[in-house]
Amino acid sequence: MSPEPTDAPTPGRVRPRRLRSTEAMRRLVREVDVHPRQLVLPVFVREGLTEPRPIDSMPGVVQHTLDSLRGAVAQAAAARLGGVMVFAVPEVRDATGTQATEPDGILNRALAVAAAEAGDALVVQADLCLDEFTDHGHCGVLTPDGRVDNDATLVRYADMALAQAAAGAHLVGLSGMMDGQVAAVRDALDAAGYDEVAVLAYAAKYASAFYGPFRDAVESQLEGDRRTYQMDPANRREAAREVAIDIAEGADVVMVKPAMAYLDVLADVAASSSVPVAAYAVSGEYAMIESAAAAGWIERERAIRESVLSIRRAGADHVLTYHATELAGWLAEEY
Ligand code: PBG
Repeated sequence: MSPEPTDAPTPGRVRPRRLRSTEAMRRLVREVDVHPRQLVLPVFVREGLTEPRPIDSMPGVVQHTLDSLRGAVAQAAAARLGGVMVFAVPEVRDATGTQATEPDGILNRALAVAAAEAGDALVVQADLCLDEFTDHGHCGVLTPDGRVDNDATLVRYADMALAQAAAGAHLVGLSGMMDGQVAAVRDALDAAGYDEVAVLAYAAKYASAFYGPFRDAVESQLEGDRRTYQMDPANRREAAREVAIDIAEGADVVMVKPAMAYLDVLADVAASSSVPVAAYAVSGEYAMIESAAAAGWIERERAIRESVLSIRRAGADHVLTYHATELAGWLAEEY
């Protein structure tokens, strides 16, 4: 038997619980905070609606009209969020996603509305991807034999970035996982004089089941999956490679998505990234919390707070969450 070390701490002297004994003490030693400025609200706009339409799989989230979008952006600004991320659903889709690049396409109109309402108060972010706009639902254009054509898609993304910048987007969020997308978009923006428009790269975006409710939200046409472009959920090291490539191509912010099932990846990226790191608490994460809370199985507010806190603790500088405005309201009472 090995002898007891003589300087072994005795429970009487070393008591970690001292630092948990009162709320004031816990507050003093708390390691991470969530601040409204770190929260980004994703919003959906649907062309042709006269009233906001609830999304069944995301209780509390709607498809907005352009008018109700204005209200949501005003609320986000009043809550002092960091930004809004705008998604839009067109009435008409085709093989190349024409509506994504039309100046009067629903996404570009929505961005103009959001930018006008936000003024300087919020960073207006645009989802830059073709899946809402294509009739096959893929994030890119297809080859004649039905595969996603990486390099032809880059040309569409570059045009999309220009349309979004012209509409007033402050930041474009590249969520399509095509190789070379950051460089293609950065070059196009710079050549057109939009050097102040920032690029957020969904750098480590996994082919995840947790996007399920989002597919409802955007009335996705996809059959099959995105596994030839989004990452394999088994891969951790590969995230570092994707992030390094995107930063080298000029990404201003990199993102990990989904968030809660990928906190190891997020922690890795946060430890090594030279640019700010975002994380996206996706539709399925939202739906799990809402459905469990509705059943009375978890405490809703505590679960929302804890989930976002855990994403911050893992290293995210900012968090996209459908709970952003409500959470910011709770946080405001604490500062
Ligand atoms: C692609 C995109 C998706 C999400 C954000 N951008 C869908 C996908 O990749 O299949 C998912 C967001 C969510 O689930 O909340 N435009």
